[in-house]
Amino acid sequence: MPYADVGAFPVPDAVDDDRAVFAADAAPTGWLATELGAVRPGDVVAVWGAGAVGQLTARAAVLRGAARVLVVDRYEERLRMVERHSGAEPLDYRRTDVAAELRDRSGGRGPDVCVVAVGSPPADRFGGRHADRPDALREAVHACRKSGVVVLLGGTDGFVDAFPLGTVTERRLTLRGVRRPDLRDVPMLLDRMARDELRTEHLATHRLPLAQAPHGYALFRHRADGCVRAVFTP
Ligand SMILES: NC(=O)c1ccc[n+]([C@@H]2O[C@H](COP(=O)([O-])OP(=O)(O)OC[C@H]3O[C@@H](n4cnc5c(N)ncnc54)[C@H](O)[C@@H]3O)[C@@H](O)[C@H]2O)c1
Repeated sequence: MPYADVGAFPVPDAVDDDRAVFAADAAPTGWLATELGAVRPGDVVAVWGAGAVGQLTARAAVLRGAARVLVVDRYEERLRMVERHSGAEPLDYRRTDVAAELRDRSGGRGPDVCVVAVGSPPADRFGGRHADRPDALREAVHACRKSGVVVLLGGTDGFVDAFPLGTVTERRLTLRGVRRPDLRDVPMLLDRMARDELRTEHLATHRLPLAQAPHGYALFRHRADGCVRAVFTP
């Protein structure tokens, strides 16, 4: 295990494994997104993508005191989780005019911080019409308030076409990106888990023995059977 002395942390007794496992990646990523977005108390925050990362970004924004947090996706079960577990408001983009809703729910200005967490490239490639990651990024850039911050999470293939650069300059937007979470946040997040501020076990939708890992990854990749995360037990 490379760098085990750097990347291993004691898990508080009050945190069970199904909760703690999310401190490894999705929770610190969501936390970092809100740090890069400089989310402040009273802000309106919009998140594209209600996977584990999007949901934990939304929860991080709530914990930082955002006045409203809105999460955009199309999967009903994920949007229900957003409502039940993060304290954020779900927006189903198949049924809603997202741009208009975001404007309305942010006093007509647009969200202060927009985070794009719309899924790994392999899942997107199989994901049908909304496979195009820049769709969400474009929507975020257009929705964000003047002088707001847009944060892009995760790996990309490196190049995108038709990026609305003029809007970035016209609206004085700050654009930030991140691919790896910060391990320094892990102990703080474990403490929040121990205090029940951060609950993640609902994201472990599938529990499988390690031998079924390929099946678990396939469920995750295709978002099949309501899979948000498959957790493997050795
Ligand atoms: N440290 C990091 O920076 C880090 C760590 C883990 C994951 N990530 C990245 O975060 C992103 C999200 O990861 P995840 O595991 O939650 O992914 P996921 O595939 O489980 O969820 C992504 C969600 O985005 C939604 N989506 C797709 N296109 C959309 C659109 N145009 N508008 C609104 N919603 C849309 C999908 O319906 C899906 O529910 C990925 O890009 C991943 O690479 C980054």
